[in-house]
Amino acid sequence: MTPTDNRDLKRFLTREQIQQRVTEMGADISRDFAGQTIVLIGVLKGAAIFLADLARAITVDCTFDFVAVSSYGKSSRSSGAVRLLKDLDHPIEDRNVILVEDILDTGLTLDYLRDKLLLQKPSMLKIAAFLDKPSRRLREIKADYVGFSMPDEFVIGYGMDHSEHYRNLPDVCFMPTDAEE
Ligand code: IMP
Ligand code: MG
Repeated sequence: MTPTDNRDLKRFLTREQIQQRVTEMGADISRDFAGQTIVLIGVLKGAAIFLADLARAITVDCTFDFVAVSSYGKSSRSSGAVRLLKDLDHPIEDRNVILVEDILDTGLTLDYLRDKLLLQKPSMLKIAAFLDKPSRRLREIKADYVGFSMPDEFVIGYGMDHSEHYRNLPDVCFMPTDAEE
């Protein structure tokens, strides 16, 4: 199967369901931060597409920044170690920060990033996760804004990859089990 040959993939979320939920999340954030400015910090690369949609559903003043971490390498399951590959471009002291992530899975990534960002003393640090797999959690961490909760399945599309492929699928699909590493 090649990345564009996605006709047989089983869908978890359609683009319409995604659009509706992300619009609701943007409305929740806009209400909670009315009259304030937010820094959206996207975790590259998986959160890029979610951040782009979420930002356009937010009506309050926003700036963007991005961090990149490595933890999964080229396979689909975590090696456990999180390493920062790209730091923030701008300081976040006294800013309202929302960390934007594609999936909250074991929690290792967001636990690491949260601790690291809190050292810079933002006035507020919230987490927006498009997907949440609560049954996989190894760290005590919760997202303040969650798109969808899901069972322990591996999904691709809407920014999420398997070995860097499939990020461009507009729907979120289940990764066929015979192709998982
Ligand atoms: P955590 O550190 O285990 O919470 O991992 C979070 C990261 O693992 C996410 O940002 C994703 O990049 C990746 N990940 C976890 N589950 C999936 C999945 O089902 N599909 C694609 N990537 C996933
Ligand atoms: Mg990833």
